Amino acid sequence: MTKPLLVVKNLQKRFLLGRAWFQEPTYVHAVNGVNVTVSEGETLGIVGESGCGKSTLGRCILRLIEPSEGEIIFQGSDIRAYGKSDMQNIRRNMQMVFQNPFDTLNPKLTIQHILTEPLIAHRIPKEQRQPLIEETIEIVGLSKRHLARYAHEFSGGQRQRIGIARALMLRPKLIIADEPVSALDVSIQSQILNLLQDLQEQFSLTYLFISHDLSVVEHIADRVAVMYLGEVIELAKKEELFQRPLHPYAQSLLSAIPVSDPDEKRERIILTGDLPSPSNPPTGCKFHPRCWACMDKCKKEPPALKEVEGRMVACYLY
Ligand SMILES: Nc1ncnc2c1ncn2[C@@H]1O[C@H](COP(=O)(O)OP(=O)(O)O)[C@@H](O)[C@H]1O
Ligand SMILES: [Mg+2]
Repeated sequence: MTKPLLVVKNLQKRFLLGRAWFQEPTYVHAVNGVNVTVSEGETLGIVGESGCGKSTLGRCILRLIEPSEGEIIFQGSDIRAYGKSDMQNIRRNMQMVFQNPFDTLNPKLTIQHILTEPLIAHRIPKEQRQPLIEETIEIVGLSKRHLARYAHEFSGGQRQRIGIARALMLRPKLIIADEPVSALDVSIQSQILNLLQDLQEQFSLTYLFISHDLSVVEHIADRVAVMYLGEVIELAKKEELFQRPLHPYAQSLLSAIPVSDPDEKRERIILTGDLPSPSNPPTGCKFHPRCWACMDKCKKEPPALKEVEGRMVACYLY
């Protein structure tokens, strides 16, 4: 659990929004200087409201979209410098599971065909393919007889199992799961989360687990990074964060989780104001217009992410 598999340094992604005549171009800073490390075998959860840059971060790490700035160090080398063929090799070890497998599973192909594609792309010898496919479909809780069917013949949970099987075909080291259970019923969610946990043990997988749903992250993560408007504002061990969040934004997010223990009292913090636009973020700490602890300096200079009580927090209160 100690060796870093992935180190992300100062990752930034700006999307060009537009450029009016004689005006400066406007950008959305979807990811704004993120630093995270993921150790071998651990699950790092990424949480935050919709639009805070979680998916962009995940896609930039796999270079499905090109980052604007920063380093992505995977197994010791900076993969941002890699050309197409080196990147293709790396993708054997880094795979993605998406929120809605129906959008990403080609409806015209059988499951057999969908699971063969990555094996062909990575030149797995023909005689090894069928045994791998049959083993993998069973590992995810389906069976050989499902292989001849099409994605639309399956339920949402089964489709996500197929999405996971596809990601697993090349036995990767890292899986970036972007809201993998958000489209599923709660009862199915826990089945898929349990499957992901079993697979992690069986294949020594490392997960970057993205979700807007804190209770899902609480179930699966070892450490959690909380994002706000493209930045990590708190990063801590799961137990520490859920017991005592330090950043006011993390406190408000966590206060919204329903408590299961009736004796436990938790005061719900209602944030005032909407999530500001990432194309025109507030100065200073980006959370200051919604923060009840806002001080003068919060409006001027953004606080740096620094170590507080064994975790990382970006707030002047500490
Ligand atoms: N291709 C794109 N072009 C322009 N803006 C984008 C694009 N993709 C994402 N964004 C913007 O970047 C911000 C972060 O988006 P996203 O990473 O999807 O957030 P999340 O996954 O946390 O909901 C949002 O403001 C979104 O509108
Ligand atoms: Mg997203």
